[in-house]
Amino acid sequence: MLRIAVFVSGRGSNLKAILVHPELTNLIKVVAVFSDKTECGAFEIAKSFGIETKVVGKGENKIAPVDLLDVLKNYNLDLIVLAGYLKLIPTDVVEYFENRIINIHPALLPSFGGKGMYGMNVHNAVFHSSAKVSGATVHFVNTEYDRGKIIAQKCVDISDVKSAEEIAERVLKIEHQLLPEVIKAFAQDKIKIEGNRVVIKS
Ligand code: GAR
Repeated sequence: MLRIAVFVSGRGSNLKAILVHPELTNLIKVVAVFSDKTECGAFEIAKSFGIETKVVGKGENKIAPVDLLDVLKNYNLDLIVLAGYLKLIPTDVVEYFENRIINIHPALLPSFGGKGMYGMNVHNAVFHSSAKVSGATVHFVNTEYDRGKIIAQKCVDISDVKSAEEIAERVLKIEHQLLPEVIKAFAQDKIKIEGNRVVIKS
């Protein structure tokens, strides 16, 4: 079983998509959910599945970012999944878990990414750009926001949308398919890095 920690900041719909996906049940175990928020929808979901929750940040009962790597090491993790986590992962964690941290981004990278580009900010930027397609990207995490190697993408037609919210809705549906698909491929050891490209073997 692939041992996974999921990092979240918000409502947790991607976390839920992972937890309820029938093809992942026998392949993965989410052993802990980490957040920079003391309370969030994702924590409620984690708790309802009996999964341990941990808060990262400064203050009592929180894991200071400098201690995060040691805490993570104790879980014997195979993979870390960022599912709507809005903080940068400390460099020592990125280096230790090289090519074992993935992030889902709600647009087609390398466009519409970078610092400040999260949630509705992304969909507003896409809407105002007049782009006719958007989508979701899963990529490896490095020390820069949204710049790690792209693993997989799915796109969606947005040529007829009337608002950024409509884009968000369409993209979220795709995210809930794409993230479990990539995790499944990772668990089956089908994700291979070939030079500058990442390939999912069939
Ligand atoms: C998702 O749309 C995810 O792609 C996005 O936050 C949302 C979290 O929703 N992540 C980013 O914008 C990161 N740059 P969720 O909490 O319902 O999974």
